[in-house]
Amino acid sequence: MSEAAPADAFAQAMRCGDTAAGAVGVLLHRPRLYELFVQLALIGREPSFRGQLLDLAGPRPGETVLDIGCGTGSLALMAKEAVGSTGLVCGVDASAEMISWARQKARRLGVEADFQRAAAQALPYPDAFFDVVLSTLMLHHLPKKARAQLAAEARRVVKPGGRVLVVDFAEQSRRKGLRRQLRHRHGNLPLHEILALLDGAGLSVVASGPLGIQSVHFALAVGRSNS
Ligand SMILES: C[S@@+](CC[C@H](N)C(=O)[O-])C[C@H]1O[C@@H](n2cnc3c(N)ncnc32)[C@H](O)[C@@H]1O
Repeated sequence: MSEAAPADAFAQAMRCGDTAAGAVGVLLHRPRLYELFVQLALIGREPSFRGQLLDLAGPRPGETVLDIGCGTGSLALMAKEAVGSTGLVCGVDASAEMISWARQKARRLGVEADFQRAAAQALPYPDAFFDVVLSTLMLHHLPKKARAQLAAEARRVVKPGGRVLVVDFAEQSRRKGLRRQLRHRHGNLPLHEILALLDGAGLSVVASGPLGIQSVHFALAVGRSNS
């Protein structure tokens, strides 16, 4: 019997766990390892990277923010600082382990944010509820149809004129070797596909481009009015 390569076994372990009903995609269930991954991949630049994302989406005091596929909640918790006590930040992830970790982290840091286990394809929020919708480094976890569902859901829950920020890798990791794979193992989504998804969902793209870190790029769109 052939044994899985260590990096494949590790990736497999990350994906074993408790999943929200109806969720489609590659879910991650090892929050501690995921945070370690991110730290290794960004080598001390995680706060500035996340800050850069929030600068693009521009959450303001009193606004409502949703982070889809929030993972361990890092970006959502930073967003709460921006919206302040009168604002609201929600995060959803289909992995029970990620949500439990994000809730514990929020408690530990004394930051109020609402984390719910839910599938990106069926968000548990009313129409036109959020000023800002974020989806960072998660779209490549979804199969094609589910990506379109996420975009449609983002469009549904964002207010007219609200901002939707999508961030992903432009290129797939091509690095070889265990250490490099552990640091850098991910899929990708070309910019033209992200733009087509947002446009197809009825969102207007207002900016896009590289973020200057690895191959990460972004697209920022605004919700159109329903009329
Ligand atoms: C690479 S992580 C990104 C986490 C976070 N957004 C960040 O920037 O660090 C992708 C996350 O998407 C979640 N995910 C994958 N498919 C999902 C789905 N269908 N619905 C909700 N979350 C999903 C995974 O469980 C994982 O936590």
